[in-house]
Amino acid sequence: MTSPPFSFSPRRIVILISGRGSNMQSLVRACHTEGWPAEVVAVVANKPGAAGLAWASEQGIATACVPHREFAEREAFDAELARVIDGFQPDFVILAGFMRVLTPAFVRRYAGRLINIHPSLLPAFPGLHTHAQALAVGVQVHGCSVHFVTPVLDHGPIIAQGVVPVLAGDTANDLAARVLEVEHQVYPAAVRWLVEGRVRLDGEVPLVAGVAQRLFLHPMLLHTEEVLHGD
Ligand code: GAR
Repeated sequence: MTSPPFSFSPRRIVILISGRGSNMQSLVRACHTEGWPAEVVAVVANKPGAAGLAWASEQGIATACVPHREFAEREAFDAELARVIDGFQPDFVILAGFMRVLTPAFVRRYAGRLINIHPSLLPAFPGLHTHAQALAVGVQVHGCSVHFVTPVLDHGPIIAQGVVPVLAGDTANDLAARVLEVEHQVYPAAVRWLVEGRVRLDGEVPLVAGVAQRLFLHPMLLHTEEVLHGD
């Protein structure tokens, strides 16, 4: 009996969350249903009450919490977070609604293996309250970006983006809900490319191979006549 010429061990994914974890759920579901060569080995939060932790635990995924409030210094929090993450031996660390600014040392530790989803079309609207920021200046399209994390907040080489229309009368909550719909398309696609080895960071540049489309349009943008004329 000959052994196969080579074998792949599943890529190990650790997902960091701060709250409900709907993006984390979309990643776990896509990993299972699409049969990625990967496994979500742990979900880690910085808040003990993060709803996503309970969901992950129900799925049989290991969970951990490193409460940021217990650390006076950002560096000490990040060091403990890295210790916990490294215990799961991840190939990739995925930020999914993780609402902490990370230190340069933490970012460097996972360089090229750390990605984030941000609810805006970067480089527009970094930081918080992105949907209110978008409404305040009257942009006509808004969306989300998946990017490699660099030491500069909400900055870094972009892997994929999702675009939604801004409609007359939208509130920040309306817009957030519409953006979340495309987040749940864009993030699973981008993380799948990552675990399949189709996207990697080469210096400052994201190298993407064998991916036809890195732009995801909300279904409403596929019927632009209706958006423009309200038919
Ligand atoms: C998502 O909209 C995500 O893009 C955003 O937080 C939300 C988390 O929702 N992330 C950031 O703002 C990071 N700067 P979820 O917990 O349901 O995935």
